[in-house]
Amino acid sequence: MGEEDLAWAALEETLQERAGLDLRLYKEKCVARRLAVRQRACAVPDLAAYVRLLREDPEELPRLLDALTINVTQFLRNPQTFRVLGESVLPDLCRSRAEGGRRTLRAWSAGCATGEEAYTLAILLQEVWRACGLRQTAVIYATDIDSRCLEVAKAARYQARQLDGLPPEVRVRCFKEEQGGWVRLAPAIRRMVFVKRHDLRLPPPFRRLDLILSRNVLIYLAPAHQQQLLQAFAEVLTPGGILVLGKVEGLSGPAREAFEPVNVSERIYRRRAGTSGAGGAAAPGGARA
Ligand SMILES: C[S@@+](CC[C@H](N)C(=O)[O-])C[C@H]1O[C@@H](n2cnc3c(N)ncnc32)[C@H](O)[C@@H]1O
Repeated sequence: MGEEDLAWAALEETLQERAGLDLRLYKEKCVARRLAVRQRACAVPDLAAYVRLLREDPEELPRLLDALTINVTQFLRNPQTFRVLGESVLPDLCRSRAEGGRRTLRAWSAGCATGEEAYTLAILLQEVWRACGLRQTAVIYATDIDSRCLEVAKAARYQARQLDGLPPEVRVRCFKEEQGGWVRLAPAIRRMVFVKRHDLRLPPPFRRLDLILSRNVLIYLAPAHQQQLLQAFAEVLTPGGILVLGKVEGLSGPAREAFEPVNVSERIYRRRAGTSGAGGAAAPGGARA
């Protein structure tokens, strides 16, 4: 083993031990790029020196974890995706669930970062229900691996400038201004969203879902784990349930059989009926919700 390989192995071990993070599950190129950024920031000459510093300086671990799991997100990210969802996909989904006697829609923002995606969905659902004359509600699980992001998601407080992409009418209706340029989501929206820590490399903690948004998360995972996650999504979605991936992501592996495309360019797929994983099956080894 060369010096670089030894340093890499030491890094894997350190991250596994101290953060429970299995580096092998992430794309090597992604990891290497972000490591290089941390190495430069710490002004260390090579990976071996960086791993030594990581072991000695307790403040470096959270910084590295931050760098490895990029948390970029925003309200109404990729507006065209939400337009398609709001115009046809969600009205169809909500109506079909209402016809089946369901009042509560179950959704999951998997890899929610600071929560904007889950709250955008909650806002959109309210609009859809109003437009369709439906009396429904929703339980939206918002999960991420990054606990600090989840604190923000739970507080549901953002800087007013983060609302720039939202229509003024939505800003007025769904947010309450607070001091210091902060805004907070209205209780009716907040009440729909349940924030929880979950590592997407583990079996899903939810089942019987109608909708999963998992955008810009798969890209961080190695291909085998992307396929595993997609298969898990297929298993916990009920037939007719909707999966939305990020604009640069797509289906791969056996899960391709389980979904039919709804809108390929917006990466919206529908769970087929009658293929393996009926949405009601237990998630192996996972807690239930
Ligand atoms: C770019 S953000 C995507 C946020 C949001 N879905 C969006 O598209 O705007 C990616 C998120 O995936 C999370 N993530 C990365 N690996 C994860 C894992 N193994 N389990 C859960 N979340 C993970 C990161 O912490 C980060 O918050």
